[in-house]
Amino acid sequence: MLACTRIGAVHTVVFAGFSSEALAGRIQDAGCAAVLTCNEGVRGGRVIDLKSTVDAAVRSCPTVRHVFVSQRTDKPAVMGQLDVPLDQVMMSQSPACPAEPLDSEDLLFLLYTSGSTGKPKGIVHTQAGYLLYTSMTHQYVFDYRDGDVFGCVADVGWITGHSYVVYGPLCNGATTVLFESTPVYPNPGRYWETVQRLRISQFYGAPTALRLLLKFDNSWVKKYDRSSLRTLGSVGEPINHEAWHWFHSVVGDGRCPLVDTWWQTETGGVCIAPRPADHGAPIIPAMAMRPFYGVQPVLMGEEGDPLPGNSVSGALCISEPWPGMARSIYGDHQRFVDAYFKPFPGCYFTGDGAFRSEDGHYQITGRMDDVINVSGHRLGTAEIEDALDEHPAVPETAVIGYPHDIKGEVPFAFVVLKEDFGSAPLAVLQELRELVATKIAKYAVPEHFLVVKRLPKTRSGKIMRRILRKVAMETTGDLGDVSTLDDPSVVKEIIEAHELYRKQRGQE
Ligand code: WTA
Repeated sequence: MLACTRIGAVHTVVFAGFSSEALAGRIQDAGCAAVLTCNEGVRGGRVIDLKSTVDAAVRSCPTVRHVFVSQRTDKPAVMGQLDVPLDQVMMSQSPACPAEPLDSEDLLFLLYTSGSTGKPKGIVHTQAGYLLYTSMTHQYVFDYRDGDVFGCVADVGWITGHSYVVYGPLCNGATTVLFESTPVYPNPGRYWETVQRLRISQFYGAPTALRLLLKFDNSWVKKYDRSSLRTLGSVGEPINHEAWHWFHSVVGDGRCPLVDTWWQTETGGVCIAPRPADHGAPIIPAMAMRPFYGVQPVLMGEEGDPLPGNSVSGALCISEPWPGMARSIYGDHQRFVDAYFKPFPGCYFTGDGAFRSEDGHYQITGRMDDVINVSGHRLGTAEIEDALDEHPAVPETAVIGYPHDIKGEVPFAFVVLKEDFGSAPLAVLQELRELVATKIAKYAVPEHFLVVKRLPKTRSGKIMRRILRKVAMETTGDLGDVSTLDDPSVVKEIIEAHELYRKQRGQE
């Protein structure tokens, strides 16, 4: 990433868990000239064959002129025509490379993220504003001081890794930690052993990992020296109270401020979070609380009007620009305008809902659109539906988010099968799982599949996901207004199918 910025090249980092098709889609959209990969990735005791994923992807990417291959493991990579052995060619290069001067608004990187419709979008971040914003937030949100070792355990393939593993900390001259493993490999003490070994001052991670770790005995935490820790941070999804208190009292021994930080790929850096560096301001558990300097949150009502006063819930918007905000969607500025600035004219719409408490603090209540959050990974349900719909047996599907005690949410798919396939649903469902894994990634594979005859639709043909959510959650006692349904009897049909599904799962 830093080498790219040094020479003025735009980078787009792709999470190593994506399939070759998902990788190809990003390379094509960005028109990449070069791909950098390792021969293999190593994570949590598993080896991931990255080179063959890249090989399969670049076959459909005519813009790629070179594939640079770094040797992460000993296994020799099979080198093709485009491939260049990165470690070898670097040895013949001069270590001096003058930095390319760029304009403050030149592109720094693209990062692909999911929206509620269509393909993942290449969010555009530019040079100066992004760097200013990540370095300022890194300093003030985490109370960073010279000499600290900053430990953000996010994967560099997501925005958290960009802003708080690489750019923010390095702009501030911090020592930053690159964490390659998983929180439970080789055992659930991995994070805290890392804290002890590297004397980490700030530990920044995701609620999904905390929810997993708190199930193990606290001795996995206690046996390591955590006295170097000063600030704890949480990011990526709502943090539940149990996880917040465990993190605060067990990991931080009750002495480290814990900041719940709300932000997005599009915002570049943290936008709402407590600021422990402001002395005397108490932190309310599991609450993002306060806008960062210069960020102006507004809650909008159903009529699109700003809600005044406190104790109100609405659509979370930001009314003034801030330095780290995304500048565009690569190659489709109109989509950028439509997605973020049309719903509430004059404001940036986040897609999230929020509550402003009696004393004016913000609590994020979750997405208002068809984006779900699986283990802190953002996914559009439309992407999963598109993958499922490619199966010849499947005329139609609808995917919703369903709560999961560790992952936060998992995809729940309602699937309509063509009549000829109704007799072999299990085989089809297995094919559907594989289809999602190859089109997107393994983590996008639905945990639940419910085969239904029809989906609930309005008279204008729109799927009423609200009803599907209620069926999945078994809260159909209160279905709300169903008068716009094309055929209300479909609801009973789906409830019955779901009851049968529940019974079958119970027996497994
Ligand atoms: C969710 C990750 C509640 C939210 C940095 C947002 C959160 C989406 C929090 C962005 C939080 C992130 N509390 N929800 N502290 N932080 N989110 O782009 O729904 O991967 O819109 O950026 O994650 O996900 P993204």
